Amino acid sequence: MIEQKFEEVFGGKPHFVARAPGRVNLIGEHTDYNDGFVLPVAIDRFVWFAGCRREGRTVRAYALDFHAQSEFSLDQTLRDEEHAWSNYLRGVSKFLESDGHPLPGADLVFGGDVPREAGLSSSAAVEVGAAAFWQGLAGLRLDPVYLAKLARRAENEFVGVPCGIMDQFVSALGRQDHALFLDCRDLSHRHVPLPDEVKIVVCNSGVKRALAQSEYEVRLKQCRQAVAQLGTAGLAVKSLRDVDEEDLEMAASTLTEVLLKRARHVVTENRRVSGAAQALEEGDLERVGELMNQSHESLRDDYEVSSLELDALVEIAQRQPGTLGARMTGAGFGGCTVNLVRESAADSFAEVVRRDYQQAFGRPAEIYLCRASNGAFAE
Ligand code: GLA
Repeated sequence: MIEQKFEEVFGGKPHFVARAPGRVNLIGEHTDYNDGFVLPVAIDRFVWFAGCRREGRTVRAYALDFHAQSEFSLDQTLRDEEHAWSNYLRGVSKFLESDGHPLPGADLVFGGDVPREAGLSSSAAVEVGAAAFWQGLAGLRLDPVYLAKLARRAENEFVGVPCGIMDQFVSALGRQDHALFLDCRDLSHRHVPLPDEVKIVVCNSGVKRALAQSEYEVRLKQCRQAVAQLGTAGLAVKSLRDVDEEDLEMAASTLTEVLLKRARHVVTENRRVSGAAQALEEGDLERVGELMNQSHESLRDDYEVSSLELDALVEIAQRQPGTLGARMTGAGFGGCTVNLVRESAADSFAEVVRRDYQQAFGRPAEIYLCRASNGAFAE
């Protein structure tokens, strides 16, 4: 219990407790920073915060995962290179204050059960959880979409990771038993119900996403280059979101082979996300699964962000009866796969994937049966 942890670290009862979930993305990978569509789910794994106001402008933050404390002043929020985990909280508080929302000094503890570096957005959960915590402790009432954007800004500008908006948005605005369809250009969104007869099963390859950040930046640049090259071919587009498959075919010769592959992934993935949201709404779960399988192929062959372990997990999953669809999820190069599995088959699915993965790689895969839960600012 987070309250008890607070008592152990700082003594006394906390004034305020907040939490934010991690996420798994059903479909729509590497589309958010191309102004495209995504269909993530907030999962029932959380980062919790508990804390108290304190006199003055000092914040003392204790990370349960690291058994370490970092202290900073709200008057001059600098980066802490020794305790890099604290930069997520520092960034959020800095931008809240610079946007004109004064915060009190605080003692706080945080921690939870979102696995780190597994592609389930533990950092977004820390940022959004920090935003929820500060909002409660300072008695602010801010728009959840603003808070999601602020959390992303902390990651982009303070932590220094050039991610898109998907993770923070769903951690803030997810809804129990629903996926969230989000247009990353104008942030319009709708919640799409998930039927009881399927389970979302996440398989963790146990491989930390070593290449993820550098290769992520390479992909981001390649997408921008593709847009620029398409511009020279007379296609006046702002981002790959504005391109369809016909455009791409016509302008294919203006792109290098690599850029064509990257663009083709983003363009086809956007179509798959819209199709999957619609199929889910119509109860056509087989179609959702097919689109997830196609998404994996596209990420593996065109976007080239999968790995041996992720491909194996997907293949093992797709062989199981009751699997509707399987794909890698998140940035790639390690981390997790997401699987849509019929409820009646979920237990045997978990058993077989564990066994076959262990046989192939000599290491266990952790399996999480996830339920879609509310975001930090759910009504
Ligand atoms: C990471 C980023 C997201 C998104 C995914 C890939 O999770 O944080 O913004 O780009 O990768 O879909």
